[in-house]
Amino acid sequence: MASLRQWRFAVVFLLLQVLGAQQKPTRYALPTQPPGHDAILVGTAWYPEQWPESRWEEDLRLMEAANIKVVRVAEFAWSTMEPSEGKYDFDWLKRAIALAAKHNIVTVLGTPTAAPPAWLTSKYPDTLRVDENGRRATHGNRAQASPSSPKYRELCRRIAEQMAIRFGHTPSVVGWQIDNEYGYAQMSYDAGTRQKFQDWLKAKYKTLANLNNQWTTAYWSQTYDSWSEIPIPVGGHNPGLMLDWKRFVTHEYDGYQRDQIEVIRKNSDPRQFITTNFMGWFDGYDHYILSQALTFPSWDDYVGSGHVDADNNGLTHDLTRGFKRSNFWVMETQPGAVNWHAVNNFLNKGEVRAMAWQAIAHGADEVGYWQWRSALNGQEEYHGTLLGPDGTPVPFYEEVSQIGHEFSAAQDAFRGTTVTSQVALLNSYDSRWAIQFQKHTQKYDYVAVLKSYYKPLHQLAQSVDVISPDAPLAQYKLVVAPALNVIPKDIADHLLEYVRNGGHLVLGPRSGMKNQYNGLLPQRQPGYLVDALGGRVEQYYALEKDFPVSGDWGSGDTSVWAERLGTSSSDAQVLMRYGKSNGWLDDQPAAITRPYGKGRITYIGALLDDKLMAAAAEWMVKDSGVTPVFGSVQDGIEVSRRSGDGKDVLVFINFAQENRSVALPHPMKCLLKDAACNQLDLPAYGVEVVVEQK
Ligand code: GLA
Repeated sequence: MASLRQWRFAVVFLLLQVLGAQQKPTRYALPTQPPGHDAILVGTAWYPEQWPESRWEEDLRLMEAANIKVVRVAEFAWSTMEPSEGKYDFDWLKRAIALAAKHNIVTVLGTPTAAPPAWLTSKYPDTLRVDENGRRATHGNRAQASPSSPKYRELCRRIAEQMAIRFGHTPSVVGWQIDNEYGYAQMSYDAGTRQKFQDWLKAKYKTLANLNNQWTTAYWSQTYDSWSEIPIPVGGHNPGLMLDWKRFVTHEYDGYQRDQIEVIRKNSDPRQFITTNFMGWFDGYDHYILSQALTFPSWDDYVGSGHVDADNNGLTHDLTRGFKRSNFWVMETQPGAVNWHAVNNFLNKGEVRAMAWQAIAHGADEVGYWQWRSALNGQEEYHGTLLGPDGTPVPFYEEVSQIGHEFSAAQDAFRGTTVTSQVALLNSYDSRWAIQFQKHTQKYDYVAVLKSYYKPLHQLAQSVDVISPDAPLAQYKLVVAPALNVIPKDIADHLLEYVRNGGHLVLGPRSGMKNQYNGLLPQRQPGYLVDALGGRVEQYYALEKDFPVSGDWGSGDTSVWAERLGTSSSDAQVLMRYGKSNGWLDDQPAAITRPYGKGRITYIGALLDDKLMAAAAEWMVKDSGVTPVFGSVQDGIEVSRRSGDGKDVLVFINFAQENRSVALPHPMKCLLKDAACNQLDLPAYGVEVVVEQK
């Protein structure tokens, strides 16, 4: 029987529950939106260590005037913070952070481990990377240290710890960036790294017999009798070994970042986020794995030569959002031009603003310009900036100032909002690497294939998530895997569960060919999904020229890659067939579909031309009941929606080079115009942010 005390406790508990339910819901807090600050922010990379202190105030005054509210500092300032081993000088940084706060600017602190100081690399030369040819890196560039070097890891941990002890509780420090672009994934080929790789393999495979079996080392007499015989692959090696090396690289960078994350976490307020700046489609490591230890991912969005391609850029934002299925930051983007491309042309007036809003529309909560002002000497003297060498604004500063003011005006509408999609595109580093090791045709480009699916699907659905195949799928009406080459059993089961519960899974060419060891699956493609599909790939062909293909989606061509499909089940339906081509493909199935469970599986064996791809996308979207974010808009207009916390905000951007207009379904509020509106007239690169009228 319950005692009186227990009864009293139960009554109080119930009362609290009832009161709690009546309370207003707490504001939906996103880690990408630091509490107490604007929900969307403009930032810049600032290097106070390169300038006399007397200059700082003027820099910050100019930033404040442009509504720049974030500075990222210190990510290359190791030699200033630790001028000699164990002797730290953080006073200057403390003053810089305080002065920024005085100008309403918060700070993101970068750990400086992408650029070790000269004393370090001279005293500990073993920390420097050794390349494939046995040559050790020299001092003077960056990313020259080995992420596997125990000594380097110890020194990195120490500087990160010292920074966290100083600034882990500083109110205006909102977060941390670990390192910078993670050494472009350049590994060291020294004996210590090789030994670590062998140990990692041993932990994974347990016995050499198992490893020899999974890699089929009997082929070309590769059989290993001792772990120490296993080389670091340098290309042209066994596909199993090559894929495991990539996973080991991921593991090493993960360890490298976790070392720093651990000491920062121990010494900082939980409100301080920890991120790093990735590089879009760079594939040196598995970004899904590295993102796990971060609060959220960030990326550096550079166009390089030419002009922004809205689909490419949107896709890369969506990729980054998918790393952790969260909002993200654009830690760096180009202030007009870069200095490292073939032709470093300046983006057109208004183009950078359109890019800034596109980032927000796709789920970014900060856009940071690299960099504020060029150092008077150093490798990047020609790069775009906001100030000239004389310390006064260049013409481009005006555009950032406009962005800053617009972000401030519209920010509240974005608080607590994220992007949600009904369509997911599956991306896997294992699959991408597996294809790259054995392309079969140099013309095959993994990212281009993803983009060929993304473009029409995004046009129709107006929102697409790009996620890892092991991510939860239940929320999606349509899941498309354009090139899921590696489908181990557990992923196949996960995909089948999605279909059984009513989802539509579409597989592109090269799907389901390999197991997790990069070995061929004996079922043929799509491997463990053959039975559910009621069909399979009979043979694949790298194409030297285009071949005709026609059927439910119309008539057109296939190029680069084509697979002859076959059906084994009476309810598998042929959607497309090849026309007269190489004899083998003539009149054979190119796309098939079959109902399975409450859902459907479709396999497309051909790389279709744009028109056919658009028709295929239309069929997928219709069959799956996908509804668009807004509805049909003119060509060149990108519409996106962010929602959450009881809000819905639409962003319209005109990426066409002519005027475009959009009719709204009813009068709404245009936040940039600050007026009611029922039609948008957007010039080239024009932007509007629209919410319901209160
Ligand atoms: C990278 C780096 C920056 C800077 C820019 C120049 O993204 O992170 O330090 O070198 O490129 O575009």
